[in-house]
Amino acid sequence: MKPHDSAGPPEADVTPPRIALVTGASRGIGAAIARRLAATGLRVVCAARAVDSVRALADEIGGLPIALDVTDGDAIASVGARIAADWGPVDVLINNAGVSSSAPLDKHSDADWDHMLAVNLTGPFRLCRALVPGMAARGWGRVVFVASNAGLTGYPYTTGYCASKHGVVGLMRAMAAELARSGVTVNAVCPGFVETDMARDAMARITATTGRSPEDARAALARLNPQKRLIQPDEVAALVTALVADDALGINGQALALDGGQVMH
Ligand SMILES: NC(=O)c1ccc[n+]([C@@H]2O[C@H](COP(=O)([O-])OP(=O)(O)OC[C@H]3O[C@@H](n4cnc5c(N)ncnc54)[C@H](OP(=O)(O)O)[C@@H]3O)[C@@H](O)[C@H]2O)c1
Repeated sequence: MKPHDSAGPPEADVTPPRIALVTGASRGIGAAIARRLAATGLRVVCAARAVDSVRALADEIGGLPIALDVTDGDAIASVGARIAADWGPVDVLINNAGVSSSAPLDKHSDADWDHMLAVNLTGPFRLCRALVPGMAARGWGRVVFVASNAGLTGYPYTTGYCASKHGVVGLMRAMAAELARSGVTVNAVCPGFVETDMARDAMARITATTGRSPEDARAALARLNPQKRLIQPDEVAALVTALVADDALGINGQALALDGGQVMH
């Protein structure tokens, strides 16, 4: 609410709601982030490779469903204009879309490496390049990367994933330094295992390669967290929502672990 003098009625707050783009919003962490941001009053663009996969969520939260494959450079270059035509410029960018796989170093294929880098690192870089200069020019913006605690430390059999997430943390830090005086903040959240399809796929791989039961595989992932549990998607969404608030201006360039204390740095 704007200040007003005692002679007249208070001026209406005419600040339009902020517009947030969430990549990988079709399920898991991205869908939880989209719901939380919408609940705090943001207008949320829900993106995934197939627009049909985000329609129901967009209907539920009053969002804008769009198709966006983050490996498609042309689509990224035009996404700001597409969203602006419907709603306006993007104020908040949540780089959440991601893929993971695991293999020992000598069995990690070029194709797998290239795909993981393309989705997890090059796509977010291109989205930032397309959308962040506009935020800086308008003097306000928020960028949050959903990295991983695999961006803070190494794990066996995950060279490509760890390299891509360490790359995301480096990208975030460089951008935060470059944009520090612009009104744009840039941060990363770094969860441990979160109960989504991605973690369920990891459990299935453990079961397939070790013969352990699905319950044992789940327990093995939960044991990595000192709290002996999997993180829930809404916990990640809550941290992301806190980072995009107006009064979070002072938090910049941080890679925040969200893993029960598994990685301390
Ligand atoms: N789950 C975990 O344990 C965990 C832990 C730490 C960090 N993370 C990170 O959290 C993020 C979300 O993971 P999640 O667990 O929610 O995974 P998820 O359930 O597998 O969802 C992945 C999301 O990424 C999207 N996506 C995949 N490839 C894409 C592409 N080429 N272009 C656009 N979107 C694409 C998927 O959308 P469509 O397939 O519908 O296009 C989906 O919405 C990822 O960056 C992941 O690395 C996850």
